[in-house]
Amino acid sequence: MKILATRRFPGEAWDELPDVEIGPLEPRDDVDVLIVANEAVDFAAFPALRLIANFSVGYDRIDVAGARERGIAVTNTPGVLDAAVADLTFGLIIAARRRIVEGDAHVRSGAWESGWAAGPFLGREVTGATLGIVGYGRIGRAVARRAQGFEMRVLHTRETPLEQLLAESDVVTVHVPLSPETTGLISRGRLALLADGATLVNTARGAVVDEEALIDELERGRLSAGLDVFAHEPHVPERLRGLPNVVLTPHIASAAVETRAAMTRIVVDNVLAYARGEELPTRVV
Ligand code: DGY
Repeated sequence: MKILATRRFPGEAWDELPDVEIGPLEPRDDVDVLIVANEAVDFAAFPALRLIANFSVGYDRIDVAGARERGIAVTNTPGVLDAAVADLTFGLIIAARRRIVEGDAHVRSGAWESGWAAGPFLGREVTGATLGIVGYGRIGRAVARRAQGFEMRVLHTRETPLEQLLAESDVVTVHVPLSPETTGLISRGRLALLADGATLVNTARGAVVDEEALIDELERGRLSAGLDVFAHEPHVPERLRGLPNVVLTPHIASAAVETRAAMTRIVVDNVLAYARGEELPTRVV
């Protein structure tokens, strides 16, 4: 069995793999198993390919329909990153609404000269606010559980129509996978439904939100945002980088040591199951 991985993935489980080669996705006719992080695979470049073990719960860059047609299995890493993503979602909600990053920059720059009562950093409350969750799968539900601790009123798209949810929420958080149906789901028109002072958080995929339209809203100062994902990563538009009312992180929602090790565990379990001819634990196709 020839395994090619685009990088070494973290965690002890990795060492259970036999003979992994680390290298780019360049044409090879000897590779049976590819380990990737939601990276596009050109099937023609890997004629012997039988398994793509994806180190990611999302697989939007992998042509799963094409893989199915060619008899190539695809696996992902569901479940183990729900908590980390939900935690970062709350980090972004609080950071954006309470202006933590702006305040941090202010202190570091030495510009803080007034007392606390005169400070310019009035934010918006999190506790008691209405939280609209777009996508109520495992991660969306993990976010809802955390919202209970903040005494939030929770709306989600399994029960509330999207337009109503957007109009009624103080905070909207996105947790749908990227697909043709969800690309541009949070469109310019839908962003306009958000109330003045509302906060949009995206830890799912950048392309779910109309990025240009969101930047327009942020430039008007009508909304705040917390973004871990972007339409064309790792490119982040300069207009966005210059804005104070958005908190930006580099796609780190699952980036906790324990979470990443658990994701690697699943990747390895799938590869080892494939090697033994067993059912794949987290098969997508
Ligand atoms: C995923 O798993 O889909 C994330 O985007 C990376 O953790």
